[in-house]
Amino acid sequence: IKKIGVLTSGGDSPGMNAAIRSVVRACAYYNVECVGIYRGYQGMIEGDFENMGPRSVNNIVNKGGTILKSARSKDFMTPEGRAKAHENLVEYGVNALVVIGGDGSFTGAEVFNKEYKFPVIGIPGTIDNDIFGTSHTLGFDTALNTVVEAIDKIRDTASSHNRLFLVEVMGRDAGHIALNAGIGAGAEEILIPEEDLGLERLLESLRKSKLSGKSSSIVVIAEGDKIGKNVFELKDYIEENQPEYDIRVSVLGHMQRGGSPSCFDRVLASRLGVKAVESILEGKSNYMVGMLNDKVCLTPLDQAIKGHSQIDQELLRVSDIMTT
Ligand code: F6P
Repeated sequence: IKKIGVLTSGGDSPGMNAAIRSVVRACAYYNVECVGIYRGYQGMIEGDFENMGPRSVNNIVNKGGTILKSARSKDFMTPEGRAKAHENLVEYGVNALVVIGGDGSFTGAEVFNKEYKFPVIGIPGTIDNDIFGTSHTLGFDTALNTVVEAIDKIRDTASSHNRLFLVEVMGRDAGHIALNAGIGAGAEEILIPEEDLGLERLLESLRKSKLSGKSSSIVVIAEGDKIGKNVFELKDYIEENQPEYDIRVSVLGHMQRGGSPSCFDRVLASRLGVKAVESILEGKSNYMVGMLNDKVCLTPLDQAIKGHSQIDQELLRVSDIMTT
């Protein structure tokens, strides 16, 4: 292996820059050339490459977003698109790829690996934490801190006005952000796709909360929750059934994807980047590097994608007890 390509793909997440930096510097450490590929697979198809050395990644460890930009490439889903991408890699002399992204990006990497026997290693980068084989994906910890900070602020105004706030958070089909940030911010109720609370139980829980003396409440709702109503419909439903509530909705949105990465995400990114490069140099391919029990480890890409990560039952129990 003489030249390793690195790209970021799918939704960006804080810590991606720290991971790029780690891959670039690990390549330099092991005397391998490194090529940055812009805009994920789309840049691979368009030949948007740039040679990178240790000084190309100065002062980015603390920056949110990704200096390589990101995209969700439709062209890469076609055999023609992947053929063009492969042609460009060969022309540029790239022998292996590090793909930083979520399950969609890993699916692309796996297909590409199967078609062209091209060595690929994935680094999990998504705020959703929905990948099997790692306790944390890059950006999850930062996103949690962002959400908790936002909810703390919402609580101030909720409490001043005796209001009920419905706060929608990201996570796609997974409830990790909602559950963890909900516990961290002391939410009165947390709705996640993995557990169906049901509308009746939600109303009951709000009633109880009021009777127990709470004058304001925060309900955290994962965007993928399956209660059957979106957050605005849910507001209408609660108002119809419990008109005494003064309800406001806050959809936190893409601010959850931005910001300077937490120290945890920076360290994680540094460890995973080094392991990705070392794995390639050891001849490994089609794996994701992750962290389990504070140890860096490898999981086959297909397992990482299909396994998803399960909601921790102990966390659910803690959440139930905390919302009493
Ligand atoms: O996967 C990360 C994520 O932020 C999800 O939580 C969210 O559902 C989605 O991406 C939003 O995607 P987009 O940036 O394309 O709107």
